[in-house]
Formats: sequence, C-alpha cells, structure tokens
Amino acid sequence: MPNLPALVLVHAFPFGPAMWRRQMTAFPGWHVVAPPLPGFDEHPRLDDPTMDNYARDLLGTLDKMGVERAVFCGLSMGGYTIFGVLRQAPERVLGLILADTRTSIDSPERRAARERSIALARTAGPAAIAEEMIPNILGETTRRRRPEVVEEVRSIITSQPGETIADGLLAMMNRPDSAAVLDHITVPTMIVVGDEDTVTPPSDAEFMHRRVQGSTLVNIPATGHMANLESPDAFDDAVRSFLRRIV
Ligand code: MLT
Repeated sequence: MPNLPALVLVHAFPFGPAMWRRQMTAFPGWHVVAPPLPGFDEHPRLDDPTMDNYARDLLGTLDKMGVERAVFCGLSMGGYTIFGVLRQAPERVLGLILADTRTSIDSPERRAARERSIALARTAGPAAIAEEMIPNILGETTRRRRPEVVEEVRSIITSQPGETIADGLLAMMNRPDSAAVLDHITVPTMIVVGDEDTVTPPSDAEFMHRRVQGSTLVNIPATGHMANLESPDAFDDAVRSFLRRIV
C-alpha cells in the first residue's frame, strides 16, 4: 500500500504487536504497521539490548517494509523507542503519538526492581512476570470491571519468551533521559494518558505536553497504563481525530 500515509504502532513491554490487534483495522486510509521489537514474536534478539538499538532495529524493519516516513505511535516502551528514533532519524517522523510514556530515567528503586524482575523472568518465566505486572499496568477500573482485558493482557505477556523479557528490562533500566528530545520536535504531536496510569502517570504526560510546542494532551478516563487495550474506543477516536490533522 505504498500510496497511503503510514502509521507505525510501537508496542509496550512485554507485549509484542498483538497489543495493537484492534488498532490494525481502525484507521482506514492509513497503511498501519506494527513491527515487533527485538526478541518479540520471533524477531531476532540483540547482543546489546538498549533502547537506541531497539530504535535502530525498528528503523531497519521499516526499511525492509518500504516505510520511509510515518506517523509514529508508541505506548510506554514504544515511546521510549520512538525517542531513539527522534535522536537517530527525525526526518522520518511525520507526526507523533506518545501514549502512557515518559522521558525520565528509572529511579534507583525502580532499577533495583528491574534487576529482581530480570532474575524472575529468567528463572520463573513470563507467567510470573504477568502476575507481577498486571496489578500495576492495568487501571483499577479495568481490573474490577473488565476481566476479559485482564485475560487478554495475561495471554499476550505469557506468549513472549523469558529471555526477551529480560532483554527488555535491561534496555529500559539503562535508557537515557529523553527530555531534551522534546525541545526539537516540530511535527504535530498528541500525548495520551489513562487517568489511572500509575506506571507513567498523568504528571509525566503533562510534562511532555508543556515541553512539546503545540502538542495536544488527551486524558482517557477510567483507564490505566494500557490505554489502547483498556479503552480502545476512546483511544482510537483520539488517534483518528489526530490523524485527520495530518492528511
Ligand atoms: C511498558 O509498559 O512498556 C513498561 O511497563 C514501561 C516501564 O516499565 O517503564
């Protein structure tokens, strides 16, 4: 579909492209792609997993797909990856959707928790990681009222290999601060956050919104960190109205 504008959906940790299942068909008139990051869905792992290497790998995948320029939409680790794309190849970015993500680095406590999770991923595997993560990444409302979303999240997480999960944790815990990247963004930008997101809370979204000139901020009610899975209708509506501003 070379004549349609491209929308690249970049997945969160430790999800893989399956988290974008609904969004793949939600934006008629757009060539929507959701490439796997290293190690996910049998995409080769990297010897040196860093967020900038994930970004390089993503750009290589897009080259192979013939996607030169695109609107990039990343959720959480997908956003961390897009900050790497903005450092390496800003000319490929037509517009930005930064969902449930942040530019700051991990606190010492968060780094220590990552180390424990790396050991857990290697010894106990993805099911243990899913148990650990679900209470944090899904909003209170979703956990109480949307059991089917809880099950979907568990099934996507447990389909990924433990080594891929360990790599992702390592890449995230060593990621650089990306706040300075925000000052150079000149393309249309929308920032999205679930109001019950405790991993990358609304204060992180407000920080990015203040720092990216002309950006818009969309707050999705009764929704946690996984906005596109927890409230797909509101998420897709926000993306559709943003995309209308681009073409
Ligand atoms: C994600 O959702 O991609 C991760 O949970 C983000 C993080 O742990 O920093």
